[in-house]
Amino acid sequence: MDVVAPFRLDGRVALVTGASSGLGARFCRVLHAAGAKVVLAARRMQRLEELARELTDALPVACDVTDEASVDALFEVARKRFGRLDVLVNGAGDADPYAAEEEPLAAFADVVRLNLIAAYSVAQHAARPMLAQGSGSIVNIASVLGVVGGGIHPTPGYAASKGGLVNLTRELAVEWAGRGVRVNAIAPAYFESELTAEIFASKKALDAIAHMMPMRRPGRAHELDGPLLFLASDASSYVTGQVLAVDGGFLAK
Ligand SMILES: NC(=O)c1ccc[n+]([C@@H]2O[C@H](COP(=O)([O-])OP(=O)(O)OC[C@H]3O[C@@H](n4cnc5c(N)ncnc54)[C@H](OP(=O)(O)O)[C@@H]3O)[C@@H](O)[C@H]2O)c1
Repeated sequence: MDVVAPFRLDGRVALVTGASSGLGARFCRVLHAAGAKVVLAARRMQRLEELARELTDALPVACDVTDEASVDALFEVARKRFGRLDVLVNGAGDADPYAAEEEPLAAFADVVRLNLIAAYSVAQHAARPMLAQGSGSIVNIASVLGVVGGGIHPTPGYAASKGGLVNLTRELAVEWAGRGVRVNAIAPAYFESELTAEIFASKKALDAIAHMMPMRRPGRAHELDGPLLFLASDASSYVTGQVLAVDGGFLAK
C-alpha cells in the first residue's frame, strides 16, 4: 500500500495566482516539489521570472487578475504551453486598512474586486478546461477572517470578500462536484508575508496574536505545505466544498 502516492502531482499542471510573493510563491515551490508543472501569475514579472528560474518547466505570466482581458490572456498562454490544467490556487489578494466607519466605498470595492470577483473570474477560467477533461482541483486562499470578524487590525473589505470567497467555494463545489472538479478553500490565520509585514514587525501585534491563538503563535511558512498539497492532489479526492482552517486552533474557540 503506497499511501503517499496520491499526494504526488507528476504530470499535472497547476496555475497559481499571487505567485510573486508570500504564500503564493511558497505554494508554487510546493506544487513543483510534488511533481507539477506550474504557471506563475501575478503583476510583478521580474519576481515571477526569478522564481521560474528555480523551478523546472515553470511558466511565468504577468497578469492583473482584476482585468478580464489579462486573465483571458493568462489562460490562453497557459493552454498553449501545457494543453491542460489540473490545479488552480487562487492566491492573489490584498487587504484594506480602514476602520469601517471611515472606509471610502471605493477602497472596499477594490478589495472585493480583487479578493472575490477576480478569484471568481479566475476560477471560471480554470473550470472550463477542467470540466472538459472531467477532473481538476481548485483551492481558494480564503482567511480565518472570512469565517469570523475581529482580526489584529480592522479590514472590512477583506473580511467581506473572504467571507464571500468561503461561500463561493461551497457553491462552486456543489455545481461542479458531479463533473470531476473539486473546489475547497484554505483559511490561514497569520503567516509572514508582504501582506502581514506590519504585523510581524510589531511586538504589540505579535503579542496580540499570541494572546488570540490557542497555540500562542503565528503560523510558520511550511505549515501550509501539507494542507495545500492535500487539497490540490488526489489525496483529497472525496473532499469538496470544505474550508480547511490552518490557524493554530483559532476557529475552534
Ligand atoms: N499572510 C497571511 O497571514 C494570510 C492569512 C490569510 C489569508 N491570506 C491570503 O493569502 C493570499 C496571499 O497573501 P500573502 O500573505 O502571501 O500576501 P502577499 O505577499 O502580499 O502576496 C499577495 C500576492 O497577490 C498578488 N496580487 C495582488 N494584486 C494582484 C492583482 N491585481 N493581480 C494579480 N496578482 C495580484 C501579488 O502580486 P503582484 O503585486 O506582483 O501582482 C502577490 O503575489 C491572499 O489571498 C491573502 O489574503 C494570507
